[in-house]
Amino acid sequence: MTIPEHVHDLRGERPAHLTGAALERVKVVRPGVAVTLLLAAEPALLMASLNLQLRENLHWDVVEADGAWRVTVRHRADVAPADVLALLAADHKRIDGLLARALSLLNHGDAAAAAPLLREFAAMLKRHVGFEDGVLAISLGADRAAADEPPGVMLREHREIAQQLALVEDVLAAAPVDVSELAVYCAILSGTLAKHEYREEHNLFPLWRMALMRRSGSERTDLLTRAQVMLAG
Ligand SMILES: [Fe+2]
Ligand SMILES: [Fe+2]
Repeated sequence: MTIPEHVHDLRGERPAHLTGAALERVKVVRPGVAVTLLLAAEPALLMASLNLQLRENLHWDVVEADGAWRVTVRHRADVAPADVLALLAADHKRIDGLLARALSLLNHGDAAAAAPLLREFAAMLKRHVGFEDGVLAISLGADRAAADEPPGVMLREHREIAQQLALVEDVLAAAPVDVSELAVYCAILSGTLAKHEYREEHNLFPLWRMALMRRSGSERTDLLTRAQVMLAG
């Protein structure tokens, strides 16, 4: 059988070298570029490990045939979100990416280049939180959750995030901008956001995914469409 160039046959790779060999092949994956791996063993653990190492940017499909596994790996941006929660998780990455780029510029003293990124970041973050609070939480009944339950924690953390974001915007609006102060507030917000997003994705979204499964297909589609419109601004 002739194997096309983008297919990598790793069936003969020694187990100790398999993860490294697979990572070499898969790290070229980016939007518009996919690769296929042929593997001799069930790939769930291997793919989870590669995905972690590549900042959870991978999406893969597995087909088993004749004792081998064929894994087609794509960038997650090339795959339509499975549901509204997958869309929100992808939005977390875009929001984090903008803030990280702005922080890097601020750490080099370049407030002028960081400012437009921070304004875009602030707008994206407000749209994101606005959807989670104003649409999803209401639709899935988060307003009836106790304060220490994941939906209650989310609502409280959103208030903290709004306060920290207001500090960033205040410093950004001053003339001249105090770069050091802005960098400190952005770093604090970055830490708060990272913890918040982790808790959403690991504690809250699994609960909400079960709640979504109890809704009709048209309700799930409607929520996804509303999220796509709101997040895009
Ligand atoms: Fe949130
Ligand atoms: Fe979120």
